[in-house]
Amino acid sequence: MSDTNSVILAPSILAADFGRLAEEIEDCETAGADWIHCDIMDGHYVPNLTFGPMIIKRLKQITTLPLDVHLMITNPDSTFEWYVNAGADWISVHPETCPHLNYTLRRVRELGARAGVVLNPGSPLSLLEPVIDIVDLVLIMSVNPGFGGQQFIPEALSRLTRVRGMIDHSGRDVRLSVDGGIGLDKIRPAVAAGADVLVVGTSIFKDGPAVTIPKFKQVLAS
Ligand code: DX5
Ligand code: ZN
Repeated sequence: MSDTNSVILAPSILAADFGRLAEEIEDCETAGADWIHCDIMDGHYVPNLTFGPMIIKRLKQITTLPLDVHLMITNPDSTFEWYVNAGADWISVHPETCPHLNYTLRRVRELGARAGVVLNPGSPLSLLEPVIDIVDLVLIMSVNPGFGGQQFIPEALSRLTRVRGMIDHSGRDVRLSVDGGIGLDKIRPAVAAGADVLVVGTSIFKDGPAVTIPKFKQVLAS
C-alpha cells in the first residue's frame, strides 16, 4: 500500500477542452496537479487519433509540471526520440509495440527521460519480469486503451497488487500508475492496491480542474 501523501495526480488532457488547452493546464497547475498525462494515439495501435510531438513541445513551454507521455502508437521506436526532444519527462510504451523492449527502455533512459511499460487489461504481467530492473514506471491500464470516459475494469486492482509485489521484490524505486475510469471512488482502492500515480481524464475535466482537483487532493489527504 502506498502513502497517500506521496501519490501523484496526473490529469489526462485527453478529456480537456482543446480549444482552451493552455488555460486547462494552467488550472491543473494552480489546483495542485503533479504531472500532466499526455495520450499519444496514432489511429493504428488504437482507433483514436490525438496529437504528436509538436504539441508536447508547446506544452513544455506553458507548464513546469512533468509531462507523462503515454505512447499508444505502432512502432514507437521510430519516433519516441521526438517526444523526448520535445520535452517528455516520462515515456511509456506498450510492450507489444516494441520488438526490442529492453533496447527501447534503455534508449529512452539514455536520452534523459524516464521509461515506463504499460500493461493492457489483457496483457500478462509476466511481460514485466525481464525489464523490471530497467523501468522507472509501470502503468496498469484499467480500461482498454484508446478512449476516455470508459468504465473502470475491477480486475485492475488485483493486477496492481501483484505488480506492487514485483516492484517491492525488485527493491527498485519504480512508480506504479493506473489509467482509465478513475473517479473519486477509485482513489482509495487503487492506492490500497499499491498505485502511486493516478491518471484521471474525464473525472477531472468534466467539471473543470479548479473544482475537481481539490476534491481528489482532499481524499488523498484524508
Ligand atoms: C485511455 C487513456 C487514458 C484516458 C483516461 O486510453 O490512456 O489516459 O485519458 O481517461 P478517463 O479518466 O476518462 O478514463
Ligand atoms: Zn493514458
